[in-house]
Amino acid sequence: MRGKFITFEGIDGAGKSTHIPWLAERIAARLPAGAKVVSTREPGGTPLGEDLRQLLLHRKMHLETEALLMFAARREHIAEVIEPALARGDWVLSDRFTDATFAYQGGGRGLPTARLEVLEAWVQAGLQPDLTLLFDVPLETAAERLAGAREPDKFEAESRAFFARTRDEYLRRAHQSPARFRIVDATRSIEAIRAELEQILATL
Ligand code: ADP
Ligand code: TYD
Repeated sequence: MRGKFITFEGIDGAGKSTHIPWLAERIAARLPAGAKVVSTREPGGTPLGEDLRQLLLHRKMHLETEALLMFAARREHIAEVIEPALARGDWVLSDRFTDATFAYQGGGRGLPTARLEVLEAWVQAGLQPDLTLLFDVPLETAAERLAGAREPDKFEAESRAFFARTRDEYLRRAHQSPARFRIVDATRSIEAIRAELEQILATL
């Protein structure tokens, strides 16, 4: 049986990465013998994708170059990691996927959605996550969590207005595809969020 594909989204500092290793363990404990959980991330997830990630997170570039490289890394990721894993019956948990491109390059930077939809159709050929968990927090909460936590990369150094547009685009997409998305109120404690993730897991 084909595995399930779960993606984690949210503005930087929402707290999504905090929950992925924990959720991966919970899911692994429930899978049939032989199936496993593959935890991965975007941009990245393959040797070439991780090289592209370094460029994307640290080099200035034209907005369209940025969007194209996100999808180039994704093409490799799907071919090398995501599709083979799902076909084997493994579950794939990805720290970000295409919703991030719509939110950051589309919402944040203003690239027309129609351009991104062309690339999405090309690169994904119908592949969509079975579930997308959107970790949602106000900008202030995300900024407080990031302050001191790590050195900001190119995206994390963006303006408040950029993150406001990014968050709005995530929420717009979540409301547009309610069957795929679950919006997680990530302002709560880690324990409270885990309890909700546990409930969501039980429905899969
Ligand atoms: P993201 O992956 O969404 O950018 P992280 O998971 O790296 O965010 O979390 C950013 C920071 O916030 C980390 O220092 C983490 O320990 C902290 N954090 C994550 N979730 C919570 C929470 N629910 N309450 C308080 N702090 C949190
Ligand atoms: P992330 O792995 O969440 O960063 P970190 O490990 O620092 O938490 O994401 C890296 C950055 O890339 C993040 O700021 C969002 C950005 N990004 C895009 O702008 N577009 C995309 O398509 C993806 C996948 C990520």
